Amino acid sequence: KTPTPQWRPVYHFSPPTNWTNDPNGLIVLNGEFQLYYQHNPFENKWGHMSWGHATSTDLINWKNLPVAIPEVMSKDTTTWIYSGSVVEDKNNTSGFGTNGKPPLVAIFTADQPKQKKESQFIAYSLDNGLTYKQYAANPVIDLNKRDFRDPNVFWHEPTKQWIMTVAMVDEHMVRIYGSKNLKEWTKLSDFGPSGYTRNGWECPSLLPITVDNDPQKTKWVLFVSCGGDHGPLMQYYVGDFDGTTFKNDNSDDKVLTVDYGDAFYAAIAWRDAPANKKLLIGWLQNGKQETYPWKGQMSIPHDLTLKTTEEGVRLFQDPPAMLSKGLSKVTKGSVLSKKNIDVDNKAITLSKKGAFDSNSIWIEAEFLINDSKKVGFNVVANNDQSKKVVVGYDAEKQQLFIDCSSSERENKQAVNLVQTAPMKAVNGVVKMKVLVDKSSLEVFGNDGEKVISTMIYPDKDATGVSVFAEGKATLKDLRIRELK
Ligand code: FRU
Repeated sequence: KTPTPQWRPVYHFSPPTNWTNDPNGLIVLNGEFQLYYQHNPFENKWGHMSWGHATSTDLINWKNLPVAIPEVMSKDTTTWIYSGSVVEDKNNTSGFGTNGKPPLVAIFTADQPKQKKESQFIAYSLDNGLTYKQYAANPVIDLNKRDFRDPNVFWHEPTKQWIMTVAMVDEHMVRIYGSKNLKEWTKLSDFGPSGYTRNGWECPSLLPITVDNDPQKTKWVLFVSCGGDHGPLMQYYVGDFDGTTFKNDNSDDKVLTVDYGDAFYAAIAWRDAPANKKLLIGWLQNGKQETYPWKGQMSIPHDLTLKTTEEGVRLFQDPPAMLSKGLSKVTKGSVLSKKNIDVDNKAITLSKKGAFDSNSIWIEAEFLINDSKKVGFNVVANNDQSKKVVVGYDAEKQQLFIDCSSSERENKQAVNLVQTAPMKAVNGVVKMKVLVDKSSLEVFGNDGEKVISTMIYPDKDATGVSVFAEGKATLKDLRIRELK
């Protein structure tokens, strides 16, 4: 196996060695973000599913910890620890706590491949989430089904109960359960089928999110992951939740997309981040290309808000402002900051030896697009510009886009070489944040109105960065930070 340090992310989480997929058990404990993740502790591919563990105070710099919940093997049963969540049981409703110390309770799917069965298990931790003990009377929910997974649990104060959303995979439904003690669960309702239903549903979660920055106005958002027409799709539904039923504001044929790229999947949120923020983090699927000695990584966290738009209440997602603290710690040199650069019909090189030559950069830009057809950045370009990735805004098509067609032909399906999201300029201005981190590329348009995330595999020395416009345009504001 050939090591691939040129693709190891700098400011995104990846496991030190071996495989990861979904984020699991997101919880903030004493100011520390806990990240558990689907992990194969033994191999660089999916299998032996267990919960890996890392913590961070700034969501950029991670401390790796031992596997928190390993697979369980017995004579005729292998139990894999599939996706799920963790809650802090402050009132010890479960009775697992001791001496006034509230337990953490993990609620997850036990996948038993030999029995072709998935049921919901719980386990508890009395050492701040380092290790968990399986509940002796597992499973806590068993429908004798093969595909029934990914419980996501939270405390619902108005009805004073724990609420679980869990995927009825093949039925394209989310089942909602309630419980007083995390052990006995009662079915409350089903949601779905609705929206995109051509593939199995996974990893549902339901979150209250403030609308238009008004603390009095809250809507509930239900997230569901499933395979789309060309790779992973995460969709969301906006509506109301009364403690029993989720009522969708939109019609059942409406599909609302979380991320328009071909990588973002199985995302769940830290519900209890400081300042009542909901921070969504997803697995960036990385398809065919091998990386070594790890495979798989997380997205940048998305700070979730809801805004009233012409079409209705819609999800906005921007990198959280709090990341700047962690980013400062890993910033190389000073942040480049420029204003009012004329980019009329040209490309201006920004990279040079020693500056932005490592493919781990964070660009923030604001364009006045005037009559230009396209504006944006060429990133990960090689010397003769024959290979690069173009990230930008297409004013004619009114789309934010990532175009990998000159460099990723071997890694992506043809339909995914150009990825787009519908977006309009606002008073002739388009904003974008372009996050390049070795092998991941995420673009956030217009302060989080649209997001496209994808994986790229540039050659080690393909580190060119330039800004361009086709037609007349001004780059009103530019900031670029390089990360080390
Ligand atoms: C989503 C998923 C989940 C499951 C886990 C297994 O990527 O398939 O539904 O719990 O991965 O690793």
